[in-house]
Amino acid sequence: MKGIILAGGKGTRLYPLTIAVSKQLLPIYDKPLIYYPISILMLAGIKEILIISSPESIDQYHSLLGDGSTLGISFSYAVQDRPRGLADAFIIGEEFIQDDDVCLILGDNVFYGQNFSSTLLEAMKNNSGATIFGYPVKDPREFGVVEFDKDNNVISIEEKPVNPKSSYAVPGLYFYDNSVVEIAKNVKPSERGEIEITSINNEYLRRKQLKVVPIGRGTVWLDTGSPSGMMQAATYVEVVQNRQGLYIACLEEIAWRNGFISTNQLIDRGKALEQTEYGQYLLHIAKAGK
Ligand code: DAU
Repeated sequence: MKGIILAGGKGTRLYPLTIAVSKQLLPIYDKPLIYYPISILMLAGIKEILIISSPESIDQYHSLLGDGSTLGISFSYAVQDRPRGLADAFIIGEEFIQDDDVCLILGDNVFYGQNFSSTLLEAMKNNSGATIFGYPVKDPREFGVVEFDKDNNVISIEEKPVNPKSSYAVPGLYFYDNSVVEIAKNVKPSERGEIEITSINNEYLRRKQLKVVPIGRGTVWLDTGSPSGMMQAATYVEVVQNRQGLYIACLEEIAWRNGFISTNQLIDRGKALEQTEYGQYLLHIAKAGK
């Protein structure tokens, strides 16, 4: 399975923060925002990742992440010339995806929770059709929202409904089989002029190939769409890391625990960053062993 991270967009809701800097490069506590979705793909065992961003920002992502070899994975890069909509990821990514299945994660989505890796691995086993998630939120109006019938069957997904039919929002993490590329090419722009991921999900639903997996209350899905959302995410990461002494979205740690890099590679990276707590953490876990 291939992975795509969509990290474009203009970030207008965060201006002036994002006038000159791409949103997904902004910090969430001690790491750039994009580390968090990368960590999710790595936890799912995905090693080939395409990063899509705007023409102005793509080089910065390359400077930050390189070719991925220090993490034992591979990063490729592609440009989206304007934010045409989330479904564009599969059109831009067609050559990268080739004949594979694909997981898309939005560059501004943060997930964390016990057993979330097993949820991901379970979703990947379902190798035909689409698997998406449903997460209860207090105000779902800003999201794709799942509508269920009385027997809990999914009957539609609505994008940003004024009157949501449930509290289940669809987070920005989607697993698709290879037919997503053709489906994306046939999506018509919505009223807001975007080719919507929700149209793709509704097409899978029409084909009776959409699975919606509920995410329980033990997992956190954080929205970083506003300054206060970013602040809350940063505070969450700070509290968990400082309480447990375990890092959230430490890419080198995940690479090492998954066997993508050796203990010596982990130590080298720790030494290179030794002047930071992040680097000291890498040296600490290497010493403690798996
Ligand atoms: O976060 C989950 C929600 O993401 C879903 O519930 C919705 O169904 C889905 O449409 C999407 O809604 P948003 O309105 O939050 O999407 P937004 O336009 O903010 O884009 C999400 C991220 O993707 C953002 O970081 C920018 C990036 N992006 C967006 C578009 C439209 C791109 O890189 N390219 C694009 O063309």
